[in-house]
Parts: sequence; C-alpha cells; structure tokens
Amino acid sequence: MTLKELRERVMLVANAVDATFSKGDAIAIDMPMTVHAIVIYFAIILAGCVAVSIADSFAAKEIATRLHVSNAKGVFTQDFILRGGRKFPLYSRVVEAGPCKVIVLPVTGEDVCIKLREQDQSWGDFLASAKRLPRPNHFSPVYSPIDFPTNILFSSGTTGEPKAISWTQLSPIRAANDGWAYVDLQVGDVFCYPTNLGWVAGPIVLYEAFLSGATFALYHGSPLGRGFGKFVQDAGVSILGTIPTMVKAWKSTNCMEGLNWTKIRSFVTAGEASDVDDGLWLSSRAYYKPIIEVCGGTELASSYLQGTLLQPQAFGALSTAAMATGVVILNDNGVPYPDDQPCVGEVGLFPLIMGASDRLLNADHDKIYFKGMPMYKGMQLRRHGDIIKRTAGGYFIVEGRADDTMNLGGIKTSSVEIERACSNVDQSVVENIAISAAPEDGGPELLVMFAVLKDGYSSKPEDLQKKFTRAIQTNLNPLFKVSLVRIVPEIPRTSSNKLMRRVLRDQVKKELSARSKI
Ligand SMILES: *[C@@H]1O[C@H](CO)[C@@H](O)[C@H](O)[C@H]1NC(C)=O
Repeated sequence: MTLKELRERVMLVANAVDATFSKGDAIAIDMPMTVHAIVIYFAIILAGCVAVSIADSFAAKEIATRLHVSNAKGVFTQDFILRGGRKFPLYSRVVEAGPCKVIVLPVTGEDVCIKLREQDQSWGDFLASAKRLPRPNHFSPVYSPIDFPTNILFSSGTTGEPKAISWTQLSPIRAANDGWAYVDLQVGDVFCYPTNLGWVAGPIVLYEAFLSGATFALYHGSPLGRGFGKFVQDAGVSILGTIPTMVKAWKSTNCMEGLNWTKIRSFVTAGEASDVDDGLWLSSRAYYKPIIEVCGGTELASSYLQGTLLQPQAFGALSTAAMATGVVILNDNGVPYPDDQPCVGEVGLFPLIMGASDRLLNADHDKIYFKGMPMYKGMQLRRHGDIIKRTAGGYFIVEGRADDTMNLGGIKTSSVEIERACSNVDQSVVENIAISAAPEDGGPELLVMFAVLKDGYSSKPEDLQKKFTRAIQTNLNPLFKVSLVRIVPEIPRTSSNKLMRRVLRDQVKKELSARSKI
C-alpha cells in the first residue's frame, strides 16, 4: 500500500468515526496490529478523538479496567484472533468487559458472521454508516492545544491499577525523531517490528516509519517461527526490530538457519535487557550488522538511553543519553555519581523531556514521577525506576527495576498483579511472592514465585508452577509463564517488614542460568 492509499483509507475511516462519535471521545482499539488496526488508529486521531491502546492478549477483567479508566465510548476489535492456526474469541472478551459500543472486524473474510449485541456494529455496517455523508477529500486539522491527548496508553505501576498515560501531539514528533536520529530510518527502508498497538512500541514504530517515509512491513502471525524469518527475507526488510525474548527463541530453535537476511542494514532491540551472546548471534545472521539498543518507557513516548550508529557499540549495552534527555545515576543516598565514574544505581532523568507525560488519568503524576526525587543543578529529577550500570567505557547496561514492577517478555507488569492472580489457587499455600530475575549471566528476566506452605501441608514445586501459570494466563495475560517455583519456610523481610526482593532475586540467579542453558 502506498502512503497515498493509506492516507485515503485513514480519511474514509475518520469520516465514519466522525459520524459515529463526538470530538474528544476516547475510543479503544483492542486487536492485533493489522493494516485495519493501523488505519483505525490514525483515523481516530485524525477525527479529533483519543485512541485508547489495549493489547489483544488481555483478559476481560483487564480490558474492563482500561475501558473504565479511559472512559471509552467505543471499542474497535475483531471477532477472533488467529494464533498458531487456531481461532481464539476476542469479541466475546470485549463484550464481557463492559457495555460500551463495539465495532467488530472479521479476522478472515469480508464481514463478521457472529451474532452481535444491539449496540454493536459490524465493520461493514460501520463503514456504510458514513457512505451517505459527503466524503471530504481533506480533513481540516483539529485545532486543539498541542497538549491535547491523542493516545491513552497503559503501564503497570507498583500498585494494582495500571497507570493511564496520555500522549499528546508532541509524542509522535519525539518518536519520529528517535527513528531518524538513532535508527537512521529513511525513504526506501523496509522497517519491520512485530508488536501491538497496546504496547508503547506499537505507536512509536508507526510514527517512526511513516514520518520518516519508510515502508512498514506487517507480518500476521507469530514472530517466533521460521515463517516470520522467511517474511523478513522475502519482504526485503532493511531494519528489523526485535525484543530479546524473541531472539532467544530464534537462537534456541535455530529456526532461521539458511535464510537470506542480507538486505538488513541494522537491527533494533528494545523492551528488555539483552543477552550479549544472543546479540552476537543475531548480528551474525546478517553479516554482523549493528544492533541499536533502545531503552525508554511508555510515559516517555520514546527512549532515554540509546545505542547509535555514530558511536562504537557493544552488545547488550547503550552508549548515550537520548536526544534532549539528561540522565544521572544516583547512589543509595540519592546523590548523582560523577558523569565519568563507573557505577550502578537508580537512574534520575532531567525533568524536561519532549513528548514525555505530564499527567496521568488515574493517579497523581507529580507524586509518582517527582516526589522524593533529589534536586540536581537546580532541577527536580524525574523518577523512572530502572537500575542502570555505567561501565568503564561509558556504556550503560540495564540491570532491572528499583521498584516492584517487572518486565516479562517486554511487557511491564507488577508483582502485586501476579500475586493477586495466584492467590487461592492451591490450598497448601499461605503466602506467595512474585519476583522477576535475570539469569546470572544476563538476558531477559524470568518470572519466579516463592511459596510458603501452611503447617502440615505439602506440595511439589512443579505442581504449583503449573497451577500458578494457569491462573496467571487466565486472569492476567496468556503470554506469561512461571519459570521456577521455590517453596520456602519464610519470606525474608527487613525489620520494618519490607520484602527483601533483592535477596530473593540473588537466590535464584544461578538456577535460572542453569535452566536457560537447556
Ligand atoms: C541473498 O539475497 C541477495 C539479494 O537480496 C542476493 O544478491 C544474494 O546473492 C543472496 N545470497 C545467497 C547466498 O543466496
């Protein structure tokens, strides 16, 4: 599809959105990243509404929370999702989440053939509703303030409810900047990055691709198998985005053997900490092309640390603070280490970051990002919560989180959410604690549960592992799994009863390392 055709389809759908909803309405998208999803995403924004991004893997309860917090007036979704050749219901999950109007696209074929509720509409009917309206051949810009929201995205915090973050008109500009400056995206590039509009990477890669004039390559299917690699070859992908868990799967199954990836001129990796060996393997797939590491956050609409083609790079490491972003690393007393000193500590961001959030819909932005952070050169630093190591050569390595959130396969979640999903799954368990830990020699974090058993009860770790995994996949996210269960007599706590998660993490790093080698 050319940019002109894309623009026309976006205008057509924006016309229908305009006819169905009011300016400023929040409208959710809960479906895989298809051409339709991309068109709908831009159409919602072009029509002066606010896109609410929800990942299609969420359970009904999680969808409900997001629709409620954003006060969504409608949802675009699909009847089913295809996964591994099988159909999984999606519309019914959205219906279970609440009463708001749902517009349903067919996963295959021309139109949906399932029964819809009274208030809902099939994609065909929705488009037809705008047919009788005059078809504008241009859309007047929405004269909203620059800080009017365009997109509401969610990110797990340390407490229960996910934080609802609003992106403004500035966020796309910042995202596009990063694609231009660090990844060198250009007209003629074919950019592929398997993701979903519900994750921060979704909107970012769309703006990166289209505002730089590159072609965006969409694969409908799992990126974990050879089918995806063949697509990368046949589509002539020149910039390939990855997440470390994905690369680990390719390497361990060797499913990309013999594919011709010579068109690739660089890789991008984001979402999790990378593994050095996996990085070397990935680079070798395309005659040792560079890997650009990206580290950012949903609330930043972009990165704060970057790899770049302008400096020598090291696998698994970032080499600079992102454009117009300042970064310090704080010691345990909140005092920044000198800029040239190797160190490890929580990162502190300079407060002015173009495109970054300045409000949350359901929490106190100032309290979450600024309260209690130290002053530096007259600025109140912004909290991000990552633990960063600065190496002797001035490179940065992400070491994990300073708070109780975790990163599983590129998806941020909180210990609290996992622990809640696992409560009451087995009568022998009196307390369960979730942590995520990276194997001793680095790489993506894995989910580990510690369980304390009731007196007189016994359970096998493998049985609990199955039960916990099933509970998490049903109640939270089908992509999560428990990698290890440890049954312990008690959970280590400080004298003020604070959980010592770092102690728990250190206890399992060796075992995880042994397991990830299998
Ligand atoms: C790989 O593909 C390129 C074209 O993209 C071609 O020039 C090259 O000969 C191919 N290499 C092999 C080993 O087939």
